Amino acid sequence: MPEKTGTVERTLVLIKPDGVQRGLIGSIIGRLEKKGLHLAGLKMLVLDGATAERHYAEHTGKDFFPSLISFITSGPVVAMVWEGPNVVGMVRSMMGATNPVAAAPGTIRGDLAISMGMNLIHGSDSVTTAKREIPLFFSAQELCAWQSTETDWLV
Ligand code: RTP
Ligand code: MG
Repeated sequence: MPEKTGTVERTLVLIKPDGVQRGLIGSIIGRLEKKGLHLAGLKMLVLDGATAERHYAEHTGKDFFPSLISFITSGPVVAMVWEGPNVVGMVRSMMGATNPVAAAPGTIRGDLAISMGMNLIHGSDSVTTAKREIPLFFSAQELCAWQSTETDWLV
């Protein structure tokens, strides 16, 4: 069998309000599941303004910040934690570029989105960011420790 490599990471994924409204929850989760990524937690919620501002704190003061907060709090999101070796980078690759105009075909934004402001999905941009973002959405008790029967054939 091939050697197992890589440190286990966790990443926060949000299906944004446009993804929920457009009925794309299943399609987006399906892509991540089919890739073989491991789901550790999932919930649906409407973000309050304070949590949204903390989540997007790196963008405080930028001209698009008010519209970003208004959009992300405009309806339910689906929040998830996915885990596994290199999961942060893999999810970012599967999301595609921030602006769907530049997102490659085959990516979630490249295939399913048009607008920079409504680009369907958030994924933590680094392991450090994920460690800051995950506790905004999940308590430790809400994350499940479980092993998929397929793990030995994936990682
Ligand atoms: P996200 O955080 O939502 O996963 O997106 P991202 O990492 O690809 O992009 P980021 O730079 O973190 O920006 C967060 C969201 O703000 C909107 N944005 N607008 N008008 C602009 O220049 C601009 N830049 C960013 C996008 O909706 C982006 O997803
Ligand atoms: Mg970002």
